[in-house]
Amino acid sequence: EKQGFRHFMVKEIYEQPGVVRTCLEAYLNHQWNPDSDQSPINLGIPTELYSDLEHIQIVACGTSWHAGLVGKYLLQELAQIHTNIEYASEFRYSPPPITANTLTIGITQSGETADTLAALAMVKERRENQPAKYQAKLLGITNRVDSSLASIVPDLIDTRAGIEIGVAATKSFIAQLMAFYFLALDLAYHRKTLSNVQIEEIITELRQLPAQIEIILESQERYIEELAHEFTETTDFIFVGRGINYPIALEGALKLKEISYIHAEGYPSGELKHGPIALLDAKVPVVAIAMPGKVYEKTLSNAQEAKARDSRLIGVIAMDDKEAAETFDELLPVPQVNELLSPVLTVIPLQLLSYHIAARRGLDVDQPRNLAKSVTVE
Ligand code: F6R
Repeated sequence: EKQGFRHFMVKEIYEQPGVVRTCLEAYLNHQWNPDSDQSPINLGIPTELYSDLEHIQIVACGTSWHAGLVGKYLLQELAQIHTNIEYASEFRYSPPPITANTLTIGITQSGETADTLAALAMVKERRENQPAKYQAKLLGITNRVDSSLASIVPDLIDTRAGIEIGVAATKSFIAQLMAFYFLALDLAYHRKTLSNVQIEEIITELRQLPAQIEIILESQERYIEELAHEFTETTDFIFVGRGINYPIALEGALKLKEISYIHAEGYPSGELKHGPIALLDAKVPVVAIAMPGKVYEKTLSNAQEAKARDSRLIGVIAMDDKEAAETFDELLPVPQVNELLSPVLTVIPLQLLSYHIAARRGLDVDQPRNLAKSVTVE
């Protein structure tokens, strides 16, 4: 069932264009045009969840938390709604004060993560018998609508990635990102924070993502496989990104440590000089995500700080970006794209890099030590 792939993880990486296509097919209102008076998005969730909304809180763990962090940037930027994200395991024991008109979103691929389920159950319980505006509004985002999550949360977005077998989340993460694009656009439509024309532009760009992921897979796989050979003995990696690509730096580092057992840390680029830069030398490669957008110049100058410490610099950059190409030692180019959509592309080379390093090290990529696909204990 690996269909010719060596591991499920790489098979699932290659399924991602199809996953994005499935999500676009399922959740876009295909009759919509900027003159119509219905939402361009059809998530199948009640619009009461949006009424009088002032605040969103997201709870999740691991890779799902990273998707939630991308979601926070999207919800704030596109729908202008104040959004917090918490680790479910922290939220449970230090819950924030109860805020009014708050939507709580639990995001869990498996729908079985104990901490995420408990955090959601706690929100429900604490808000019972409260005045109307404090009542719990709950939404789940999951790849398993038949999971335990469904018994806690009345409304779900099904991420439709298909069953994921590799323990390291890849296609389920991409599908979670898609869910946040649709949710943010739907909210932007209802809250009128974007014009219909602006929404249409973003939808047009979303539709290009599957082909753009294919371009990365086709053009990068060989090169990344070769590059991975050079890091089989590396013991530490640093990943940096800013803005909406900061969560992707975290995700790149998590993927690498989970399956290759190499110590890796992700930071917001601007934090490098506040401590982690002390770690850098010729033995510690730095992977920087430097896509054109509002934090581009700053990201490049952060990367140069690392270069000055002799670190090997690997850049996830836009294809045809000559300035960035000169800054980095190794290039992982992805198609040029709206910065807000770029995480869907920038994560792909990082998945491939961690996969090939782990495979090269001869490790059990699909079943890494000490990890389980669903973490059903605290
Ligand atoms: C990373 C990974 C874990 C999960 C985390 C949450 O590749 O698989 O970090 O993301 O255990 O799992 P779910 O999404 O099932 O709640």
